Amino acid sequence: MTKIAYVFNGPNLNLLGTREPQIYGAQTLADVEALCQQACAAHGLQLDFRQSNNEGELVTWIHEAGRAQAEGQAAGVILNAGAYTHTSIALHDAIKGAGATVIELHISNVHAREAFRHHSYISPVAKAVMAGFGVKGYVLAIEGLAQF
Ligand code: DQA
Repeated sequence: MTKIAYVFNGPNLNLLGTREPQIYGAQTLADVEALCQQACAAHGLQLDFRQSNNEGELVTWIHEAGRAQAEGQAAGVILNAGAYTHTSIALHDAIKGAGATVIELHISNVHAREAFRHHSYISPVAKAVMAGFGVKGYVLAIEGLAQF
């Protein structure tokens, strides 16, 4: 059975392409989705790609992914939680509670940026962390997820 690879994007990632292109690059979220589509096809996964500016919606999606994974229908989640990475105990608890395999992803190298980006509530409950490869990181993370 083809397993689902969830790619969840948090706040402001809908602005990719125009948002601080010197940091996040010129590609739009639709471009990222197309890259993910190709990578999933290459690794025998079925893509479910979403974006939300709402913390609670991301929590609900992680619960959904955890249930799908428990039922053998999903490989896991690639999560770019955006700024919620640095603030959200709710997302930390959701990942722990749902038992989903989560790869934390950042387009930029958050550790080379402002100090407030150095702490992540996601990392302690993530299976792996990807940061600083630009949008190519999504492709690399899908390859990694396929190998777990
Ligand atoms: C980000 C890094 C976060 O610090 C920031 O708030 C984002 C994007 C990244 O992809 O590099 O919104 O997660």
